Amino acid sequence: MGIILKGISKSYDGRAVLENLNLEINQGEFHVLLGVSGGGKTTTLSVIAGLIKPDSGSVFIGTRDVSDLSPDKRKIGFVFQNHALFPHLSVFENIAYGLRLRKITEKEIKRKVDYYLNGVSIAKEKDKFPSQLSGGQKQRVALARALVIEPEVLLMDEPMNSLDSMTKETVLDELKNIQQKIGVTTVYVTHDQAEAAFFGDRVSVLNNGKVDQIDSPVGLFRHPRTEFVARFVGVKNILKVSPIKINNNEIIVLIKNEGLERPIKIRVKKYPVFEIDKEINLCIHPEKIILKKKNKVPENEIPDTGLNRIYGKIINITDFGNVLKVTININGMEMYATIPKNLFNFNIYENVWVCFATNAPHPLCGKKCRAPASERRCLNNSNFAPLNGG
Ligand SMILES: Nc1ncnc2c1ncn2[C@@H]1O[C@H](COP(=O)(O)OP(=O)(O)O)[C@@H](O)[C@H]1O
Ligand SMILES: [Mg+2]
Repeated sequence: MGIILKGISKSYDGRAVLENLNLEINQGEFHVLLGVSGGGKTTTLSVIAGLIKPDSGSVFIGTRDVSDLSPDKRKIGFVFQNHALFPHLSVFENIAYGLRLRKITEKEIKRKVDYYLNGVSIAKEKDKFPSQLSGGQKQRVALARALVIEPEVLLMDEPMNSLDSMTKETVLDELKNIQQKIGVTTVYVTHDQAEAAFFGDRVSVLNNGKVDQIDSPVGLFRHPRTEFVARFVGVKNILKVSPIKINNNEIIVLIKNEGLERPIKIRVKKYPVFEIDKEINLCIHPEKIILKKKNKVPENEIPDTGLNRIYGKIINITDFGNVLKVTININGMEMYATIPKNLFNFNIYENVWVCFATNAPHPLCGKKCRAPASERRCLNNSNFAPLNGG
């Protein structure tokens, strides 16, 4: 069953935690709800589960409006942040608990529990008690316990938080396999962008009680719609610019990032979102930046060649094998460039020209860009616009 949240609002003491939140999660989808701590993720899950009643809005599971149903009538499996296993029950009985409430035959209980014990690779521990289990094993038990009641919807609230990164990887792998096998619609909450990227399906980014963007992990990274999303997923080179002159195909803008000693003028391809003096955010993928040796060109002059040039100083170089990641200080603002090793002949603290084509900066609009394919902002190298001259 899919899940639909319509206009959900929830305030505590007059402070809005969720504000007219709308979200549609497809049948069978592994949906990740990504956001900072305190952003309303647990509240959202609790509203779906019926543990919290929103001030307004409705919750649908499939075509059922479950807004007025109690949690036990919603057919939901919930895996909490802290596992919350029963300490006095064995692994087997922890998993069987929900079934015992349902008056199912012993034989049927055993069949179902065994199935999920195997499903989460924990069968060998079935007679142990929670205190005898590792964090990863507890997590598997919690998962099996949520799945054994065959819920229509599985909700998971930062379930991997207490696991070390090795265990986390294994459990994440298994979780993904199980989810795909049984196809239960899953909402997985995390503040960890790497976990969100791992699951592949769609990710909603929650910002101040609203969904800023829903996209694949790659889509969020390539086409962030807001500065919050861009920063959250680690997009580099976000420029705050103010357009000062609009020509036919391009715009002259002033970069006005915080920390910059004075605004920097660059030329940018014209996108419909530009308006004179309306400040917007652009970003430039670090792979679209090239560095050139300092020469006699006057500082920060806009050349005619379609290539922007900004004067700066290399302040950090990190080796990533085939490429080098380079940080350049530009009058107090930092920019980042990813340069193939064979093209890099600079030294740390060397003054350089940071160069990029007019079509390299792209607005944070979330749109897959109206430009021809060759000019689209994209991580794929073959789509990079050629950089000549300078
Ligand atoms: N029962 C409550 N009473 C008052 N404030 C609450 C309550 N539950 C949550 N909050 C507040 O709502 C905000 C969102 O909380 P939560 O949904 O737990 O965020 P997240 O899970 O994203 O970290 C937080 O600022 C939190 O302090
Ligand atoms: Mg939480």
